[in-house]
Amino acid sequence: MTQKVLEAKNIVRDYHVGGGLFSAPRTVHAVKGVSLSVDKGKTLAIVGESGCGKSTLARIITMIDAPTSGALIIDGQPVDIARNGLSREMRRRVQIVFQNPYGSLNPRQKIGDVLGEPLKINTGVGAEERRERAMAMLKKVGLQPEHYHRYPHMFSGGQRQRIAIARALMLNPSLLVLDEPVSALDLSVQAQVLNLLADLQDEFQLTYVFISHDLSVVRYIADDVMVMYYGEAVEYGPRDEVFSNPRHEYTRTLFAATPRADVESIRARLARKKVA
Ligand SMILES: Nc1ncnc2c1ncn2[C@@H]1O[C@H](COP(=O)(O)OP(=O)(O)O)[C@@H](O)[C@H]1O
Ligand SMILES: [Mg+2]
Repeated sequence: MTQKVLEAKNIVRDYHVGGGLFSAPRTVHAVKGVSLSVDKGKTLAIVGESGCGKSTLARIITMIDAPTSGALIIDGQPVDIARNGLSREMRRRVQIVFQNPYGSLNPRQKIGDVLGEPLKINTGVGAEERRERAMAMLKKVGLQPEHYHRYPHMFSGGQRQRIAIARALMLNPSLLVLDEPVSALDLSVQAQVLNLLADLQDEFQLTYVFISHDLSVVRYIADDVMVMYYGEAVEYGPRDEVFSNPRHEYTRTLFAATPRADVESIRARLARKKVA
């Protein structure tokens, strides 16, 4: 039976900007009534050009930011939109990975502590078990036990993104939101990280909202695709339908403009996945 992990209904987010010395106050309609749902073990990809509202939507889904209006339901439980008294348990359920993990990793914190911290803050798990679980997670994301004692600057961009993914998974979230997780990486490293995400999804039945401006990436990881354009979902459906039959003019332009990136290894990996 399919299980809905995330449901968002008619999400609106306005920002009020200006009104200072140099500009008149005005309202930016960043997200204009977007609805979506994601089943357990599936990936919804959200695509669109810079400024179309992807990260705003990501922050709302992750409960970092509150929408102006709309409803959010996680694991069948409605989220208090005003974010008052949002429980730790509810927050635990959705974790996010950003484009630039360096910005969210404390340079003075060893990787072992980076991974142990969510457990320390949110659970009563003791030091020894935290260590064991962090070690196990390092392995799951393709890092080595000796990395436990190293600092963020000692890693490559791809490895740092593995660390960010590992940290996000420490609390066993229902949903992982990935906001341009491979956009800053070289193509070959992108493929490795995407393959890791696909493997983790297979193994642990993870559920992803994967945000990207790059269609060639989305094509190989998405089950469903949403195309956003100026705060609206202009396209939303199963990947193959959206790709083979784009309805909106913007999507056609977007598809036409996408270079054929070298994603052979991703293609091969996911072809295997679909057959299996
Ligand atoms: N905190 C904010 N205050 C004012 N405007 C914002 C804020 N965050 C985003 N915006 C505006 O909302 C729109 C959507 O931004 P964003 O969600 O970051 O888009 P994307 O992630 O697709 O590039 C943009 O016009 C952006 O300038
Ligand atoms: Mg963004």
